[in-house]
Amino acid sequence: MVTRRSVLGGVLGASGAGLLTAGGLVPLLRARAGGSDLAPVAGSRAVAVPPAFSVRMPLLPQLSPVSTLGGQDTYLVTVKEVAREIIPGVQTKVLTYDGHFPGPVLRARSGRKVVIRHRNNLTMPISCHLHGGSVTPENDGGPMDTFAPGRDRTYTYPNQQPGATLWFHDHAHHMESEHVYRGLSGSYLLTDDTERALPLPGGAYEVPIALRDAHFDAAGQLVYEMDDMGRSTILANGRPVPYFEVAARKYRFRLLNSSNMRFFQLRLSDGGQIVQIGTDGGLLERPVTTDTVGLSPAERADVVIDFSRYPVGTKIVLENTLGPETPDKVGRVLRFDVVRKAADTSRVPDVLRSLPPMPRATVQRSIVLSMDEDGRQEPRAYMDGKVWDAERIDQSIAYGSSEVWTVTNANKIIPHNFHMHLVQFRVLERNGAPVGPAEAGLKDTVRLFPGETVKLHATFDSYRGTYVYHCHLLDHSAMGMMANFRVR
Ligand code: C2O
Ligand code: CU
Repeated sequence: MVTRRSVLGGVLGASGAGLLTAGGLVPLLRARAGGSDLAPVAGSRAVAVPPAFSVRMPLLPQLSPVSTLGGQDTYLVTVKEVAREIIPGVQTKVLTYDGHFPGPVLRARSGRKVVIRHRNNLTMPISCHLHGGSVTPENDGGPMDTFAPGRDRTYTYPNQQPGATLWFHDHAHHMESEHVYRGLSGSYLLTDDTERALPLPGGAYEVPIALRDAHFDAAGQLVYEMDDMGRSTILANGRPVPYFEVAARKYRFRLLNSSNMRFFQLRLSDGGQIVQIGTDGGLLERPVTTDTVGLSPAERADVVIDFSRYPVGTKIVLENTLGPETPDKVGRVLRFDVVRKAADTSRVPDVLRSLPPMPRATVQRSIVLSMDEDGRQEPRAYMDGKVWDAERIDQSIAYGSSEVWTVTNANKIIPHNFHMHLVQFRVLERNGAPVGPAEAGLKDTVRLFPGETVKLHATFDSYRGTYVYHCHLLDHSAMGMMANFRVR
């Protein structure tokens, strides 16, 4: 039932004007007066989507190992199509890891190996990539390293890296974007002793939340079109703009933007404080107190919100202030309903960990991201002017090399981001200035608004072999905005 639509049709190709609102980052007007929660009724497809805050946000199910023998945790995962309730009362066909939409959470520990055997019960080849993981090329789930329907594939993750908020998702070239959109994405929370020793909120008060957008047809089924700007239903843990009941105490939220293309800029409706404690590659050195958190596709943020400042009965909306689309559709993400008091011995310490020192960089490289944005029918997306070629090595890197990559988004309208497999990097600069504290930790994906340039520092001292780097707006990487590096 998953079909590949003609490559680059859809809204993007339609007109330059469509493109402007389409790929462009359109800040939403703050239009909440009266706060009507009625579902938008413009167009028949929207009718099926319920009013905001009418469904409860579920917790993500946790995968259990089938064995913990031999010094490793072994998992079996069946990749299959199932129907799940996203919109109340409607069964929507989705692609899943073990029947879960959105994908489950796997909890792993640094220094302890995880082995996952996937069985492909779909009708097309797939691969699975551990995003942010340091793994050998054979276990990286690269774009061409797929396994066929009816086949099994085992991935081994050594977890020889510090704790981090990782995730796993399909990467089968040119299909990754549709596969991930239809559900093939899961969370992989890697913890370590440093993190476990901290008095952060834990147990029921540590909640992974996967955010994304979706486009439903009139029957409540997921519509996939390449570069579709009609994905205007926001899902939190697989339900449309849900509510989540919390106690008046601190919670730790592990946020993942699993959207194909949507950027979120999150804030609380009362402008209240959010304490960011981690990024893609794990904890920051020090917590950052902020009132907003930005997440481009694939980015993660580890945040603590203290609901003890609100009286029981308070309802606080997690809002999104970025388009495309209007605030009535995409301006609300979920609502926290403070329903009870609770004891709280958790704390966010002033120092969370120290990051590894950055060796001196001895190699400089420059990368340019671009995409046709002139409204042509079949736009393509490029890394250094070229579409991805599995056989071409674009960057040849000496093992152990420490490097600064200067990455530029040459587009005028379309935002991108930049993701490297294998490494966690540091973002040294954005547009010539030091980055803010929330980007100062370990990162594997960095946003690039139109015209922006970032400088990244990465060290290639873990594994040899060929890996990809790409824009993580997956529709763009599927169009070719991807390249290969080889560590030799
Ligand atoms: Cu989320 Cu190539 O990866
Ligand atoms: Cu892009």
